[in-house]
Amino acid sequence: MSTLAVPAAQAAELRFPPGFWWGAATAAYQIEGAVAADGRTPSIWDTFAATPGRTDRGDTGERAADHYHRYPEDIGLMTRIGLAAYRFSIAWPRVRAAGGGINPAGLDFYERLVDALLAAGIRPVATLYHWDLPQELEDTGGWTNRDTAGRFADYAAAVAGRLGDRVSMWNTLNEPWCSAFLGYGSGGHAPGRRGHRQALTAAHHLLLAHGRAVQALRAAAPGSQVSIALNAGAVRPVSDAPADLDAARRIDGLLNRLFLDPIFRGGYPADIQADTATLTDWSYVHDGDLAVIAAPVDALGVNYYQPDLVGAAPAGRVDAGTPYPTGEDVAFHPTPGPTTGMGWSIDPTGLRDLLLRFRRDYGDLPVYVTENGASFPDEVGPDGRVADPDRVAYLRAHLAAAHEAIAAGVDLRGYFVWSLLDNFEWAYGYSKRFGIVHVDYDTQVRTLKDSAHWYRDVIAAGGLPH
Ligand code: NOJ
Repeated sequence: MSTLAVPAAQAAELRFPPGFWWGAATAAYQIEGAVAADGRTPSIWDTFAATPGRTDRGDTGERAADHYHRYPEDIGLMTRIGLAAYRFSIAWPRVRAAGGGINPAGLDFYERLVDALLAAGIRPVATLYHWDLPQELEDTGGWTNRDTAGRFADYAAAVAGRLGDRVSMWNTLNEPWCSAFLGYGSGGHAPGRRGHRQALTAAHHLLLAHGRAVQALRAAAPGSQVSIALNAGAVRPVSDAPADLDAARRIDGLLNRLFLDPIFRGGYPADIQADTATLTDWSYVHDGDLAVIAAPVDALGVNYYQPDLVGAAPAGRVDAGTPYPTGEDVAFHPTPGPTTGMGWSIDPTGLRDLLLRFRRDYGDLPVYVTENGASFPDEVGPDGRVADPDRVAYLRAHLAAAHEAIAAGVDLRGYFVWSLLDNFEWAYGYSKRFGIVHVDYDTQVRTLKDSAHWYRDVIAAGGLPH
């Protein structure tokens, strides 16, 4: 019997739009290593990771996946997978010289990277801030200091001046909620400071930095698109009881609307301002700031991992370590069903709902899934293969959910797997593997996992095959 040759494009069960950006994502501190190379100065993550007890087993990003030196090999992996786009971040502490000013050698690295991507036919998508604030700026207050927003705009202008003609899309910030509320609220991330008022202050200065960077990018790189990657969440109340609905409203307000409303509606949510009135008078919001923050963007990026099922905590239980101002009496419930190696619920309906919610509440702008993926304890088998069926199932289910959103009218233009490579998972160090490519940290040998081979087939087919 002869085998019928079906062209790949026709075999796709769920086809994605032509020109869809099939991508993968990484971040500088998580993969680059080379923390002292070519004039890089320390970042808050170098300091934090070097502080005993802050990261799992004291892991740091000192060597990571050594991408700084191995980027040509890594671009070779991207080519094998067939990526159309690669989302990476630029390390501010490489670009900012010690004491201020610009370090051209830092920009040189990203120029080499971008040019090599373009030579390989892969679109560069650059994030300007993926959590690695120069330590020198933290020493003058970090994101609680309004001046940091201005310094960020200077940095954005310098990067765009060098690379603006070659980068397809800019993400100003990655997950500012984490920078503000984990970095300055609960202290679980660098710089490890704790306090609700300063976290809210940091959130505003991050948003201001975003708005100022949009202005700088528009001036220096008029041809490229500008976006922001938010960890907006699908927040669901555990029941219809008024206390649970109110808990969900507050968490949605602090996780989602606190960032989305200023950017897309030009104002902070009134309910969240009222809820936090005893913590802050919001006087750090100056006249004119909201107009800066609301400068139009070309697209919205969403990083999605799991939904949040929330309710009121049992009477009397107070979570003093919560990153959420006014969230002390909120309980986060596990969603029934399977979880990933992070213990995160696997529920792709959250991604679909989130994409539909953006469209309903904030308008019909282009959207990118800038991160989606899962950690599992992968190992290289005796045959040299890395079998990761759970990750394949996770990615497949989430792509199907993204497709549902497209079918319902969402203008989804691209999808970036988190992550291309196993990497430094922040406070979890190297104990969690999110890559579709396995990294042996002793030898730096890279091995495509089954999920990378599967993703290659998805990309080649333009969608999910049978
Ligand atoms: C979001 C962050 O942007 C990324 O740095 C992190 O590794 C993933 N989530 C997984 O936690």
